[in-house]
Amino acid sequence: MIIAPSILACDFLNIESELKRFEGLKDIWLHLDIMDGHFVPNLTFGHPLVELISKKTQLPLDAHFMVTNPEFYIDTFKNYNIYNFTFHFEVYESNLTELKRVIHKAKKIYPSVGLSIKPNTKVDVLTDDIIQLLDLVLVMSVEPGFGGQKFMPNCIEKIQYLSSKKSSIFPELQIQVDGGINETTSKSVIVSGATNLVAGSAIFNYKPAETLDAIQKLLSNS
Ligand code: DX5
Ligand code: ZN
Repeated sequence: MIIAPSILACDFLNIESELKRFEGLKDIWLHLDIMDGHFVPNLTFGHPLVELISKKTQLPLDAHFMVTNPEFYIDTFKNYNIYNFTFHFEVYESNLTELKRVIHKAKKIYPSVGLSIKPNTKVDVLTDDIIQLLDLVLVMSVEPGFGGQKFMPNCIEKIQYLSSKKSSIFPELQIQVDGGINETTSKSVIVSGATNLVAGSAIFNYKPAETLDAIQKLLSNS
């Protein structure tokens, strides 16, 4: 099980010290929510800040692009040691040829490439010919755009669907869930087959010394 703390919930004036929370911990990815103010009604940060962060941490960087033009970011982020590059299915839902082309392009640069679906997107849009190109599927359990929202339980069936695909055909697939994950909701997503939990508030709302406890609470059912 991977835990991916989302720095959207961290103290942005002290990012460097916030990163120290995770020193010595295993199976942690650092989740970076890149929003363009267009695909979602919020704007976060771009490659200059990610470059600085990449120099201050050894954690695998997990970039979640909530942007209208993910292809642009494939190039602009290529020098910052991003481990996983996730973008949204909905950008290309009317042109699956284009979707596959962009996945292939991202795969040439990033060790892991993921595709995310929003709460109103059905999971079976991710047909086997798409999943086979991916390392990760990110199931959104809130409407993307903001941290601290309430978990939407319609993600559970989607996780179960992907988990059965993982068991039968795609054993390496990471099933990531993002939004409203806390010590209560984590149990249901873990039981359903999630392998990778993004958590913002459920980690950064605790004091730094309580970080390991906060992570263990999320994992208490795994
Ligand atoms: C929402 C972001 C999430 C967010 C999660 O659009 O993709 O990563 O930071 O925050 P919490 O865990 O507080 O719901
Ligand atoms: Zn995210």
